Amino acid sequence: MPDSIVLRFERVTVRFDEKVALDNVTWELREGDTCVILGAAGSGKTVLLKTALGLIYPDQGRVTLFGRDTQGADEHDMADLRARMGILFQEGGLFDSLTIEENVGYPLLNQKAVKCPLEEVFPRVEEALKFVELGHTLDKFPSELSGGMRRRVGIARAVVTSPELLLYDSPTAGLDPITANNIMSLIAKERDIRRTTTALATHRYQDGHLLANYRYNANTGRLEAGETGTRFLVLKDGGIAFEGSQDELEASRDSYVSKFGKPLKE
Ligand SMILES: Nc1ncnc2c1ncn2[C@@H]1O[C@H](COP(=O)(O)OP(=O)(O)O)[C@@H](O)[C@H]1O
Ligand SMILES: [Mg+2]
Repeated sequence: MPDSIVLRFERVTVRFDEKVALDNVTWELREGDTCVILGAAGSGKTVLLKTALGLIYPDQGRVTLFGRDTQGADEHDMADLRARMGILFQEGGLFDSLTIEENVGYPLLNQKAVKCPLEEVFPRVEEALKFVELGHTLDKFPSELSGGMRRRVGIARAVVTSPELLLYDSPTAGLDPITANNIMSLIAKERDIRRTTTALATHRYQDGHLLANYRYNANTGRLEAGETGTRFLVLKDGGIAFEGSQDELEASRDSYVSKFGKPLKE
């Protein structure tokens, strides 16, 4: 069924002056997919996600979102499409001068295509913050929270609009391993409760491994071992060096690709 395709890149190339940041990338996400994007620093992970979001336009090729070709889309159409997506930016992107409540409510109040009645804003902000276990931080400012808590606020802001597609850019960068694991557990929980199509860029294979091998069980409130059909993409100099399952990734003999998919010691 073609309309189950959420996002499609067809031979997409993005250049910055002479530099090729994405090189002829063909890639697809279907409803309910989890895709983990691995690759060295500068390999194109962030550019890939920003192109998916329509923040960067391809120099060549085509990006289709929810069945719509973004090339023909005007600002109004793009706003409609973006309202169906959430992103956690690599830099976090919280507004320092706004409270946590205002930060999380921002997309509900400022994205015109997100039609949220005023009286529903606060309950939704509260719900999103409860989801990331930060219900008590409404009146605080980002500078008063730890790095891990700020990342969780970023997740609350990404999910507050109940998007169909969530993009996470290096959500665990700069965090200690325990905090990183907590962040990844939240991302799996979000995916499994709402069945959100999820793409995650990371340089940590553990992040992808968690999404690939654990599911959130709403009855027990815990992550449980279980196959999730996660696909892996490895970028190298803007091109796709690998695409496939975890087993295929771990079996790769390519010296670049295998660096990103070493089997983890249990
Ligand atoms: N706005 C920009 N202007 C010029 N070059 C850019 C810009 N954004 C990204 N690049 C270049 O594109 C390449 C891919 O960057 P990026 O997607 O940020 O890598 P990653 O997220 O995998 O670390 C890098 O070489 C980077 O320097
Ligand atoms: Mg990046």
